[in-house]
Amino acid sequence: MQKVKRLNPYWKARPLYGRLTVKSDFNSREMIAFLGIYLKDRIRCTIRLYESSCCCSYGCRIGVFFNDKMYHIPVMPTETAQYLVNKPDGVYVDCTFGGGGHTSYLLSEYKNIKVIAFDWDEAASKKFIEREDDFDEKVTFVRDNFKNIKKVLSDLGKNKVDGILADLGVSSKQFDDLDRGFSFNSNVLDMRMDKRKDLTAKEIINSYHSEDLANIFYMFGEEYKSRQIADAICLRRKRGIINTSYELQSVICSVKKFGGKINPATKVFQALRIFVNEELENLKILLSTAPELLSKCGRIVIVSFHSLEDRIVKYNFKQNADDGVYKIITKKVVTASQEEISLNPRSRSAKIRVAEKVNA
Ligand SMILES: C[S@@+](CC[C@H](N)C(=O)[O-])C[C@H]1O[C@@H](n2cnc3c(N)ncnc32)[C@H](O)[C@@H]1O
Repeated sequence: MQKVKRLNPYWKARPLYGRLTVKSDFNSREMIAFLGIYLKDRIRCTIRLYESSCCCSYGCRIGVFFNDKMYHIPVMPTETAQYLVNKPDGVYVDCTFGGGGHTSYLLSEYKNIKVIAFDWDEAASKKFIEREDDFDEKVTFVRDNFKNIKKVLSDLGKNKVDGILADLGVSSKQFDDLDRGFSFNSNVLDMRMDKRKDLTAKEIINSYHSEDLANIFYMFGEEYKSRQIADAICLRRKRGIINTSYELQSVICSVKKFGGKINPATKVFQALRIFVNEELENLKILLSTAPELLSKCGRIVIVSFHSLEDRIVKYNFKQNADDGVYKIITKKVVTASQEEISLNPRSRSAKIRVAEKVNA
């Protein structure tokens, strides 16, 4: 990508390893139209490429990040930042660094904060190394499970922080990478976000008893055909190992037919991913540890993507509010604007809940 130093007085542009960050006071549609016209000739970037990788936050300030292959578009960056930051020179934890979208946005809005970022995925760790210089020593990255937050913070000499953010689930990069096994047409059946863990989806699918498979599909995917699907998997196993997520999807589709836009294997894939990565367990540990780590008025902001996660967050916040530990900031769950959904369809199912620590 060519360097673009300055577009016009309204624009602040900075090339970052082939990525360009643009900020403006335009709304997103004006921005897309303008970028399409403006950039077409100068940096060989088409409006299609731009649209598919653009990140917008509703309101007057817009952050756009684009590249040939986008790592991840952060969901509701403005909202999360505004809810999270209560102290302009505080220390904040981003439990789910991913491609660093939320961390970058936080640092661009609040120049004097520091961020301790977690991610257990090697790809995120590499992304951090790539972007380290941009962060100006304001970010400490830890490749660990966020459930270990208390120990990690204590090792870093921090007993309290001013806010904790978790943007749950997988990143687009993890999902799109066919060697990770998260998507329906992957070449493998893995689904580990942290490859240092032992248990893979392949092992589960090829060795678990039918009843255990059905329980996983039902508990973590709310799949109503869990028993039939588990039986079909066990029958298919008699003909040989199920090696790829594509093969698994075919077995599921032999039981559940395509009826709409959503792939019939979606719930089973969600269940397997949650089980492999112990996602609900990790979330519960994070939520139970957070109150002792937050300083007075420190906030916890959780972005969840399905009802199982959201229920856990809602219940935890309510329990802590009843005990006088938290004040709930989002009486109603916060969702993405139509504008953001049209630009980043993944944001459709995102829900933000926020709570604030009442005492020190
Ligand atoms: C939805 S992505 C976050 C994207 C990020 N907010 C951004 O803007 O680029 C979720 C990330 O959290 C990481 N993750 C999920 N569960 C984790 C856990 N228990 N501990 C550490 N990282 C986790 C995943 O590896 C993934 O990179």
